[in-house]
Formats: sequence, C-alpha cells, structure tokens
Amino acid sequence: MAEIARQPSDPQSPEELYRYLLERVTAMETRNLELREQLRQTESDKRYVETQKIRYEREVRKLKSEIEALRSPPLIIGTITDVVDANRVIVRSSAGPRFLVRCSLSIDQELVKPGARCTMNQQSLAIIEVLPGSYDAAVYGMEVVDSPMVTYADIGGLEKEITEVREAVELPLKQPELFEKIGIVPPKGVLLYGPPGTGKTLLAKAVAHETKACFLHVVGSELVQKYIGEGARLVRELFELAKKKSPTIIFIDEIDAVGASRTEATTSGDREVQRTLMQLLAAMDGFEPRGDVKIIGATNRIDILDRAILRPGRFDRIIEIPLPDFQGRSAILDVHTRMMTLDANVDLSEVARLTEGKNGAELMAICMEAGMFAIRGEHERILMEDFLMAVQKLSVPGGGKDYRPSCGEMFA
Ligand SMILES: Nc1ncnc2c1ncn2[C@@H]1O[C@H](COP(=O)(O)OP(=O)(O)O)[C@@H](O)[C@H]1O
Ligand SMILES: [Mg+2]
Repeated sequence: MAEIARQPSDPQSPEELYRYLLERVTAMETRNLELREQLRQTESDKRYVETQKIRYEREVRKLKSEIEALRSPPLIIGTITDVVDANRVIVRSSAGPRFLVRCSLSIDQELVKPGARCTMNQQSLAIIEVLPGSYDAAVYGMEVVDSPMVTYADIGGLEKEITEVREAVELPLKQPELFEKIGIVPPKGVLLYGPPGTGKTLLAKAVAHETKACFLHVVGSELVQKYIGEGARLVRELFELAKKKSPTIIFIDEIDAVGASRTEATTSGDREVQRTLMQLLAAMDGFEPRGDVKIIGATNRIDILDRAILRPGRFDRIIEIPLPDFQGRSAILDVHTRMMTLDANVDLSEVARLTEGKNGAELMAICMEAGMFAIRGEHERILMEDFLMAVQKLSVPGGGKDYRPSCGEMFA
C-alpha cells in the first residue's frame, strides 16, 4: 500500500503508466498466489491438528473408562442352577445360598444354561457376564506336551507285553473299524503291574511318544487332595478334559495311591481317598466304550488294589511286567550300552548271567557304574573288569530273586 502511494505520483506518459500498472498487477497476482498457497498450507495444518485432537480425546476417554473399570467393585462368582425365563435365572453364589436374579440382556441367551459359571453384581446380583468353563490348573498341568524321547526300541525285552499294550491302547485309537467289524468292544485300558524298576513307566512313556494322541500323565498321589470332594472333582475334570481333547491316553502312575482296597476307613483322610477312588471307578465306567479315551494304570502293589478296579470293564487287560529273565537282561544291557564304548572282551551275556534277579533300573545302574569305573581307571573304553566291579558294587544284600513287596518298594 505504502509503495503504491509513494511511487507514481505523476506518470510521464500513458505508456509508462500502462507499463507501470501492468507490473503492479503481475506483482499482485504473484502475491495472491503465494497467499493462497499459504492459506492451503495453514488449512491442512488445521485439519491435522484437529484429527490429532480427536485422537487424544479418544485416548483420554479410553483411559478414563479403564480407570473406571479398575475402580469398580469386584463381581461375585456364581453358578447358574436354573433358567426360569428369558431374564430370570436362579444362581448359587460361591458363598452357598441361591438367588433368583435378573440377567443382563446383552448376554447371549445360548450361554445362559445350568452349570455355567457367571459373574454377578455385588448389590443386585444381576448376571453381568457368563464365564467360559474352566478346569483346575492342576488338570491342565497333566497334559504332556513335549512327549518324552523314549521309543519302543529303548525298552529291552518285554516284546509280548509291548504288543499287548499296543493292541489294547494304540489299535483302538488308530483302527477302530477293526473292532466294529468283528463286533467287540475295544479294551478301555490296561493295567501294568510288577516289581519296581521293570519298565512300567518307561513303557507308558514310549506309548506317549509313539502315538499322536493327547497324553495326560497323572501320579495317583496327585489325585489325593486336602479338602473333601476336591480329589473327586479333579478326577471328573481330568476325564472331561480327556474327552474334550480325544483321542486321549490317560496314564495313572502309582495307581495304588488312590486304588487301595476300601477298608473300614477310620480317618477323614482315608474317606477322602475312597471318595476319589469311587469317582475314578465311575469315570472309567462313564464314557462311551468306543470313545477315544484309553487309560493306562501302573502299580507295584497289585495285591493291595481294590477288587472293583480290577474287574473287567475297567482295565480290560491286566499285564504283568515281570523281572527280566536272562534274555530280557541281555536285551536291557544291550539297550543301555548302545551308546557306550565297549572293549572287545566285554561279554554282556556273562554280565546278564551274573545279574540274576536284578531289574531294569539296576541293570542301567550297573552300566553307568561300569562307565564310572572306566573313567576312574582312565581306560580308553569300558573293560569287562569294570562291569564285574559294577556288578559286585551293586549286589546289595537283600536284593533277592523273589519279589516281596515291602513298604519301601511301594514308592519305587
Ligand atoms: N525293560 C527295560 N528296558 C530298558 N530300560 C529299563 C527297562 N526296565 C527298566 N529300565 C530302566 O529303569 C528305569 C526305571 O524304570 P521305570 O519304568 O521307571 O520302572 P517302574 O516299573 O518302577 O515304573 C528306566 O528309566 C530305564 O532306564
Ligand atoms: Mg514307575
């Protein structure tokens, strides 16, 4: 403005005036363009800041509702026992009493059914949401995810027993049609019994490794719980999980911890063990015979097992895993020396002859000891003398041929 006022106060000629005006117009047009560009820029900046603002506002709302949720009072857990109509439901709160309560309409009506767990408002006890079914964490812990690296080839001897277990456990899972064609109900499970250290747990590990089925591993004593009814609940949840994940193999090791014969129980602890056993018997009867759940039990003390657990229909096959004979011992020694560097003079059949009455675990210990002697003697490889010394060392007094179960052995 100042420029315009200052400069052409009196133009010399019309041409000059014309030129001068033309210049001014061009300059102003350029300026106009510049300003428009600036305006566009500023507008886009404004839009950006506005979206930013919206984003932050949203974030604030989210954080506010989060704070709200964290501050809200806890909900009560209950179990739905009956559904009266669309929005009236009878629930049992975790404390015991039963209530008739309203059910939030936002809940899927399909989920509202007896037995489901739900959360309830503290004051009105209205059902807020239905919780997914859950099992005890202990039951989830029983699933064997990384199967042990034991194959049938790692078991020395026991060919007949391995075949029997495979027939009873693997065959019905892999080829159920064979049983249907013949018209027999496939075995539900097998019970392995015999002296400690003969390979019962080992055999179950091999089954777990070789089948694609889900494998649940329980030790009998895990089922014995502190509170009344807890053991029975564990058994029930164990079998429910097995059914859900079928095909499944349930392996109950040391089953005598729950399966000991029912006597006149004197303490409440005994009675709780018996309740668990009864639940186990019911569960073994309960699922469909052709269902894909198989049970393997193992025990050192078949003599104290309850007769009910031994009757056909629970464990259809009762397989003895005996102490290894000469052939068995040779095979076990072969398995355990497979990875060892042996001297040419080592005669494993001689070792097998000298170890009459020893079980698989002891034979494995002998192989290890022989290796230790070789290391101590700084030999290049394991010599026959090392084996003889190992046999000598492990000949514990009382490790007799005949197997008499005693209290100590029960926990082997
Ligand atoms: N037949 C066998 N073949 C190879 N190793 C065996 C055999 N029996 C026992 N063992 C060895 O003894 C160990 C203990 O055996 P295990 O199966 O736990 O005994 P239990 O019959 O008491 O369950 C195994 O880990 C394995 O090394
Ligand atoms: Mg065992």
